[in-house]
Amino acid sequence: MVAVAHLRTGLVLLSFAVFIYILLAIYKADATQRFHDVIIGIDTQDYIPCQNQYPVNEEKQWSSDNENFTVISLEFFHYLASHLNGPFPGVENYTHYVVAKSRLKPLPVKQLRAEFGPVLNDVTYFRYPIRIPPCRYAPSGSCPSFLVVVISAPNYFHKRDIIRRTWLRHLQMQSDLDLMDLSGFGFIVGLTEDRETQKRIEEESETYGDILQIEMLDDYYNLTLKVVGLLNWINDHCSRVDFVLKVDDDVYVNTKNLIKAVATVNSSEQSIYGSVVHNPPQREGKWKISLEDWPWSTYPTYFSGGGVLMPGITIAPILAAAQTIPYMPFDDTFFTGLCTAKAGITVQDTYWMFVGALEETPEPCDVHTSITWLTVDVDHFNKSHRATENFYNNVTQCIVKDADGNNRTVDPTESISFSR
Ligand SMILES: *[C@@H]1O[C@H](CO)[C@@H](O)[C@H](O)[C@H]1NC(C)=O
Ligand SMILES: *[C@@H]1O[C@H](CO)[C@@H](O)[C@H](O)[C@H]1NC(C)=O
Ligand SMILES: *[C@@H]1O[C@H](CO)[C@@H](O)[C@H](O)[C@H]1NC(C)=O
Ligand SMILES: *[C@@H]1O[C@H](CO)[C@@H](O)[C@H](O)[C@H]1NC(C)=O
Ligand SMILES: *[C@@H]1O[C@H](CO)[C@@H](O)[C@H](O)[C@H]1NC(C)=O
Ligand SMILES: *[C@@H]1O[C@H](CO)[C@@H](O)[C@H](O)[C@H]1NC(C)=O
Ligand SMILES: *[C@@H]1O[C@H](CO)[C@@H](O)[C@H](O)[C@H]1NC(C)=O
Repeated sequence: MVAVAHLRTGLVLLSFAVFIYILLAIYKADATQRFHDVIIGIDTQDYIPCQNQYPVNEEKQWSSDNENFTVISLEFFHYLASHLNGPFPGVENYTHYVVAKSRLKPLPVKQLRAEFGPVLNDVTYFRYPIRIPPCRYAPSGSCPSFLVVVISAPNYFHKRDIIRRTWLRHLQMQSDLDLMDLSGFGFIVGLTEDRETQKRIEEESETYGDILQIEMLDDYYNLTLKVVGLLNWINDHCSRVDFVLKVDDDVYVNTKNLIKAVATVNSSEQSIYGSVVHNPPQREGKWKISLEDWPWSTYPTYFSGGGVLMPGITIAPILAAAQTIPYMPFDDTFFTGLCTAKAGITVQDTYWMFVGALEETPEPCDVHTSITWLTVDVDHFNKSHRATENFYNNVTQCIVKDADGNNRTVDPTESISFSR
């Protein structure tokens, strides 16, 4: 009797569990379906893919009484987002997703490229309180022209100072020797709320003339805006330059390798060069991004922003793409991942373009092959400079094994292939 009662209770519980399970399954399928109807549905209903444009009747499209646009709770949204957790579905889907989620409206701003679709970001409104001169090109020079820009922050005076005394000097020497044409150079900073810092930056600019200040609050979470402001300035004042090198202020640049690398690159090609980041989206820590902001398990292919080489002709299309893709906080993912994808620019993985970690005193063979690298502090930066000078002055040698297993001393002037 007791056993039968237990069995019956067990059966009741079991069928209840099965019922709940089926209910949940239906709910889940239904939720996913509704989610598609509500958010992805905008793709087919409100967005006209062939014309690449939103309907003219804005009110109808965006008003919340539109039966095709349902407001959902954040909790429910997170539930849905976790079920979206597949690979990155392309820049168009990203755009539709954020447009729907954040209810972005097209801006009444002139399109840089009509075929890229409605404008979501005003990328041309920036003002520049402190400026560098527009690019100056050497007359009919056959050597490639460069704009070199260093992303800095208002109060990083010492980092700018050490760059001026190290690799920037190398760069100017090479320009003087006509190995390249340094058409423009600048440290890029935003606004500071500290008046004393602002005064010092103005003095710094008087002295060196190499500060470009963008009218936006300089903040870690505003880096994307800062780079947009930079690209807009380049588009207006340096559009004819052959190459733009963009580096951070904690990056050492091996200027000899920069020139060697550029000799192997066709500046008419719609490609940019840098080192691909392989990490998936992080949900914790410094680089975290919420499921809501990025409900996918991968990023598009993108470069570490520390050192990127861009032919000048890629700047205008990247800026035009930035006009039409919702911003995300990580500038490198945004520009070298999303914008390049939209603009049809190839992201060429070049391991030596930006090396994340070199020894405290970089080995001669690493100096021989690296174009730019991250430094962890001033000491590392100084040692990087010394190691570089020592290698090219034949104070240190890079010895490699050749095909026959013999040791060979590398000639620092030899050309190299930078891919790996
Ligand atoms: C909602 O979508 C349906 C099916 O596409 C369409 O017939 C209807 O007009 C839409 N409703 C509104 C208010 O846009
Ligand atoms: C958007 O995502 C869907 C589903 O993953 C995919 O089938 C479609 O090709 C994507 N659209 C674009 C333009 O990439
Ligand atoms: C980014 O810059 C804009 C424009 O200056 C400012 O309004 C905004 O507060 C900044 N955002 C952050 C997170 O600092
Ligand atoms: C450089 O690229 C352009 C555009 O793709 C091409 O037309 C040209 O032939 C290339 N030049 C060389 C030297 O490969
Ligand atoms: C780095 O080098 C500069 C000048 O070459 C020097 O003034 C500075 O003290 C050095 N810093 C460190 C931490 O070695
Ligand atoms: C570089 O230094 C090595 C070792 O000190 C020496 O054998 C070699 O001749 C030097 N090369 C040049 C070009 O000075
Ligand atoms: C090459 O150099 C290494 C040390 O740098 C040495 O141990 C090795 O014996 C050398 N090999 C030849 C073939 O000379």
